[in-house]
Amino acid sequence: MSKQVLLLHGPNLNLLGTREPETYGSTTLEQINQRAVAHVQVYGVELRAKQSNHEGELIDALHDTRTWAGGVVFNPGAYTHTSVALRDAISAIMLPVVEVHLSNVHAREAFRHVSLLAPVCVGQISGFGWRSYLLGLDALLGHLGWLQES
Ligand code: DQA
Repeated sequence: MSKQVLLLHGPNLNLLGTREPETYGSTTLEQINQRAVAHVQVYGVELRAKQSNHEGELIDALHDTRTWAGGVVFNPGAYTHTSVALRDAISAIMLPVVEVHLSNVHAREAFRHVSLLAPVCVGQISGFGWRSYLLGLDALLGHLGWLQES
């Protein structure tokens, strides 16, 4: 079976590059996706990327992974702190999901310290800017036993 993963981005992350660059950096979502594709290619892994501002579309994307992906790296944006529905979707798909954040959510406002999703994820990576995504991919591939170079 071929090795495939989903890189999923939640609300407002389409604006990366111009959105609060002091917090999220100046790298665009497109650049992050390109770096992510190149990063996993070394391991013979195919990455598909998707962004949505809509909770239901993110849920649909998670459900869809059951038919093609080994796991997911997910930046749920603000839904991290609010969405029982996304938490239930992660539990339901029974695939490993790694939660990632550009900013260190634990060093910010109190409402960002709580993740409703982290307890049903393999783990959480937070605070390393665009590199959080590459660290998250390494964590996911390592978890799947896919880190051998092809
Ligand atoms: C974020 C952190 C969230 O608290 C925030 O709502 C975001 C981005 C991050 O990547 O640092 O939209 O997920």
